[in-house]
Amino acid sequence: MRNAWWWALTIGFSCAAVAAGAAPPVASPVPDAEVARRVEALLARMTPEEKVGQLTQVAGGLFPDAKPEEALRKGGAGSILWLNDTKKFNELQRVAVEESRLKIPVLFGLDVIHGYRTIFPVPLAMAASWDPAVHERAAAVAAREARAAGIHWTFAPMVDIARDARWGRIVEGAGEDPYLGAAMAAAQVRGFQGPYLGSPERLLACAKHFAAYGAAEGGRDYDPVYVSEGQLRNVHFPPFHAAVVAGVGSFMSAYMDLNDVPAAGNRWLLRDVLKGEWGFPGFVVSDAMGVGNLVTMGFARDRADAARRAVAAGLDMEMASGTFPEHLARLVSEGTVPLAQVDDAVRRVLAVKVRLGLFENPYADESKVASVLADPAHREEARRAAQRSMVLLRNENKLLPLARTVSSLAVIGPLADSKADTEGSWMVFGHVPAAVTVLEGLRAKLPGAKIVHAAGPEIRRQVPSFFDNFAPGPKPKPQTPEEAEAAFQQAVATARGADVVVAVMGELANMSGEAASRASLDLPGRQEELLKALVGLGKPVVLVLLNGRPLSVNWAAENVPAILEAWEPGTEGGNAVADVLFGDANPGGKLPVTFPRAAGHAPLYHARNLTHSPEGAPMYNVRYWDGAPKPLYPFGHGLSYTTFSFANLKVATPRVKAGATAAVTVDVTNTGSVAGDEVAQLYVHQRAGSDSRPLRELKGFRRISLKPKETQAVTFSLGPDELRYWSTSQEKWVQDAEAFDLWVGADSTATLHAELQVVP
Ligand code: BGC
Repeated sequence: MRNAWWWALTIGFSCAAVAAGAAPPVASPVPDAEVARRVEALLARMTPEEKVGQLTQVAGGLFPDAKPEEALRKGGAGSILWLNDTKKFNELQRVAVEESRLKIPVLFGLDVIHGYRTIFPVPLAMAASWDPAVHERAAAVAAREARAAGIHWTFAPMVDIARDARWGRIVEGAGEDPYLGAAMAAAQVRGFQGPYLGSPERLLACAKHFAAYGAAEGGRDYDPVYVSEGQLRNVHFPPFHAAVVAGVGSFMSAYMDLNDVPAAGNRWLLRDVLKGEWGFPGFVVSDAMGVGNLVTMGFARDRADAARRAVAAGLDMEMASGTFPEHLARLVSEGTVPLAQVDDAVRRVLAVKVRLGLFENPYADESKVASVLADPAHREEARRAAQRSMVLLRNENKLLPLARTVSSLAVIGPLADSKADTEGSWMVFGHVPAAVTVLEGLRAKLPGAKIVHAAGPEIRRQVPSFFDNFAPGPKPKPQTPEEAEAAFQQAVATARGADVVVAVMGELANMSGEAASRASLDLPGRQEELLKALVGLGKPVVLVLLNGRPLSVNWAAENVPAILEAWEPGTEGGNAVADVLFGDANPGGKLPVTFPRAAGHAPLYHARNLTHSPEGAPMYNVRYWDGAPKPLYPFGHGLSYTTFSFANLKVATPRVKAGATAAVTVDVTNTGSVAGDEVAQLYVHQRAGSDSRPLRELKGFRRISLKPKETQAVTFSLGPDELRYWSTSQEKWVQDAEAFDLWVGADSTATLHAELQVVP
């Protein structure tokens, strides 16, 4: 049998690894030949209906009417999702492995996005750590907890590049940059899966949503995407490719039309690129209802046509829409769908089940769940991750860190004491009561101080979220304008008596995420008005932002002396904010996305191309006549309680042959008086070439910790992996023999410059 994994270890992974410069994953302890033998033996015994069953994922607990037992008993379901109940997992598994004819275990999948019980900062925040190791550990903790609870498969990482801050799902990924995104994608795959698929206490990961979902027109979720092949290969594919190189076992197709062909029915994407060129050995699942939606989208004629075209395109498993069980066996018997296509899909799914060890260990150990979920080491890791993800946007006159001697603090704002919004987006299955809010974190930090709180007027989506239907508990009624006004006045009055005001503002968790795009990037509701009133009191005000996307906090950026971007920081978020505000942790995070000054400037990102109008010329500044599109905060920005300098930028070999690698070294010094972290960032610009190349591209970064006055040399490599690109004019990968500008520094506006000449 053509078990897919040996491809990985031969052709697929080796080319991919060269391209992305990463080490291939460790091979599984189950030999490929053994996997192949077992898969083939099963396949030979399967009826067409049982084959289709393995390609069918059905809904579990979220929908009370779902009856997964019946499907499992007939061998009609290979996987179940939207269920989060260990006992039920075991009951259903028993049906699959004892009552179905072939006893093939079922794969339980769930969205374990930024934690299972212990919630880590949202992925955008984790990317702001610029520390792939911290993201890897977070994914490993999430995997350990979820696997203990009986889950096998997470629909993560989401690795979509997002350059439009209006798009709600920007919160789920690593932001705008393919290089940072690829590093974070690989780190999460390693964290979720461990060194090989089937590693103990780990999960099967799923790179989603393939591909370019983040480029939706206007940032409107689900809308069509029109991007060139060059943009796909240079910008949107790299994190997916990095996930393949890291050994990811599954992929999820995106919802939307990609250049007029829906991703779930896109043969070029799934068969030619993913399974062909990249040699991806795992299986591809659709997004929820994604196959049935091919009809809704006006692509497939009917549900049978949808099933046929999805399978033909290389989609292996259907998530929840049910067209496969309805039609696929018949389409095969009629000869409309080649049996070989179905068999290939079944092999891929079964090979993953064998690799995961599900046949040997199908059940969760119910006696161990509680102790794994309560492991205090998980919360410590979450607190550290949250500290490392926070970005100090502004700190005039060193207002931060606050002195521990502060005797009274007013903690104001709608997010100051909201557990759900501290945990953040994508928490349908979260454990909200465990979260520590900013108010609670500050109270724990300063037990002797007087800490008062008022929420101020509520914030709320104008259009409710579909996903709120799944949130437990009663839905609070909207405040009346009179109630909002009273809350406003009360907040100002509460702040009046305090020495320092901490305003905790931003967005509710349901204001980013799926189907949560916005046309504005302002602080929602009356928050800015309240902020102005608080600053008007004449006291020191610190703004702590809790949000899942860049916000155009233009007024705050001029008038509030200290701004900490805390994102949606997870279970330990409030403690981590308190650690940072009082200097127990020195912020070292950097923005993984550009902060625009207006929603109308989106998409705004650092790696744009040059124009005919020279950079800095007056024409550049008048692209809009109602305000220049200069970012409010550039990509890579982030301050510290200490200061750093960069010097001695050197290229060891300033002339290199195409294909060779140049070493770039810089000295980073902590010039302040406290220890801190800096992220050295290397940007390159190719001056001319087969195609126009971006103004700057990130091609290296390293987060380092330095004691006061300490200097460390940081070395980057610039070789073909960094310098080649997909050329639209040549229709292939090229590395041009051209001159390059290099800059290294603390953000994407770095000025320390060197040159590199690539020669033929
Ligand atoms: C989302 C996916 C998610 C899936 C399963 C879809 O609506 O787009 O990201 O994994 O649901 O919950």
